[in-house]
This record gives sequence, C-alpha cells and structure tokens, in this order.
Amino acid sequence: GRRDDLAGRHVVVSAGGTREAIDPVRFIGNRSSGLQGYALARTAVARGAEVTLVAANVTLPDPAGAKVVRVESARQLRDAVLAAAEHADAVVMAAAVADFRPVRQSETKIKKSSAEPDPIHLVKNPDILAELGETRRARREAYAAGDAPAHDAPAGRGRDAGNGSDAAREAGAGGPRPRVIVGFAAETDDVLANGRAKLERKGCDLLVVNQVGENLAFGTPDNAAVVLTAEGGSVEIPRGPKEDLADVVWDLVAQRLA
Ligand code: C5P
Repeated sequence: GRRDDLAGRHVVVSAGGTREAIDPVRFIGNRSSGLQGYALARTAVARGAEVTLVAANVTLPDPAGAKVVRVESARQLRDAVLAAAEHADAVVMAAAVADFRPVRQSETKIKKSSAEPDPIHLVKNPDILAELGETRRARREAYAAGDAPAHDAPAGRGRDAGNGSDAAREAGAGGPRPRVIVGFAAETDDVLANGRAKLERKGCDLLVVNQVGENLAFGTPDNAAVVLTAEGGSVEIPRGPKEDLADVVWDLVAQRLA
C-alpha cells in the first residue's frame, strides 16, 4: 500500500515559479501557483517521507510535516535544491524556473522617462534539472569505475574508509544520489516527442508531461499528464486532482527506489 512506502526516504520537491529581479520593485515571473508541487509534498509526507520543499514565491500555507525553504530567483532555487539533493533519495522538479534573467538588476527603481525605455538584456539561467542529471551521470561513471562508494553506503563511509580516490571524494560519501530524478514539462504541441527528447536531454528518470490549456495546469486544481520513463515507457494520468497525479508520481518513484 501507499501508506508508508516512502518511510525512511528523503525527497526534495521544488514548487512555484521563480522571479528574476529587474529592479527593487519589478521582476520577470510566471504563472505557476505551486499547487502541483505542494500536492507532491503533502502526499509524500502522507506516505512517510522526509520532505524538503523548496518553494519559489508560493502563497499557499506550508504543508504540515515538510521542511520548507523559501526562495525567489532561479539561482537561489538552484542552491537550495542542489544542497538538499546531496542527502535525497529523490528530487522532483515541479517548479517553473525562469529560463533567463536580466543581466543587470538596477539598485534603484527604474524611472519613467520621456525618452525611449532602455531594453532589458537577458542571460541564461542554470538548468537545475539538467545539472542534477549530469552530476549524477558523472558520479555513476566514477562508481562504475570502482572509484566511488555505493549510494546506500552510510554517510561518511567512502571518505573515512581511507581507500577513496579523487573520484570517490568527488562523488561524495553518499555516491550517486539522488537515485530518482523527476522533471516536469508543459508542452503545447508534439507532447510525447518533445517530452521524450527533453527527458533524454536532461538525464532524468521520469518526466511528467502536462498538456497545457483547457483549464488544466497553471493555477487550477486539476491536471492531466503522461509520465515518461527513462526506459521508454509511459503512464497516462487522466484528468483529476493534482493529488492523484502526485500519488502516481510517488508510486513510480517508490518502485524505482525499492
Ligand atoms: O526545459 P523546460 O523548462 O521545459 O524543463 C522543465 C523542467 O526542467 C522542470 O522540471 C523544471 O523544474 C526544470 N528546469 C530547471 N531549470 C531551468 C529550467 C527548467 O530545473 N532553468
């Protein structure tokens, strides 16, 4: 049953949408409400997990039993997620992360002038999901080469055993964590093909692909999705409450951790 199938597991969930400051009062943001991420956090707590919820600009009440870390920008979200991921069995990236941010952030409020407005120049934000996947890929290679400790080795074992190579030290005492990485993608067209390409590009184990539009996704209590697996499978989740989608995601995560 689902009741305690995540007991003893530490999971990290990101939720909400990042804001990228233009000046002290303005930002570039998105319409993510945090509802799906919060549903994931609540259901994981109910299934016995230790939950770290990294919340970007969410106005919902803290889910009982989760550790909540509040952030604003993509770079803050990255730091919080990567730090928590070091001790996590699974990371679910449900947050809508801004792809770009203003190159410079004005220290003072930008004034209205009669002249033409200044353009806002943008730079790329780090892709946190891709970074999680890439870091783990590198750690797995080190582990396969015999350089890194097993992911389930007790904390500190790899380092303290005294037989660690540089690669082992780099892999960290916990080895190739997190064992399960889950991404979300909102697609409007060619949903499956785009989703499949994204899963591979980002190196995640599961990708939850939402169809955007028709009262689904942003700010609504309902969602419909297809979960793609790294092995090429897919699980369809019919339209329903975000809790239902969350429970299917945790079913798949729990299977992979078992
Ligand atoms: O590339 P796209 O934005 O469609 O990917 C969505 C997935 O990637 C989500 O899981 C989101 O949290 C994650 N993401 C991220 N860092 C970014 C952009 C997206 O982790 N800079």
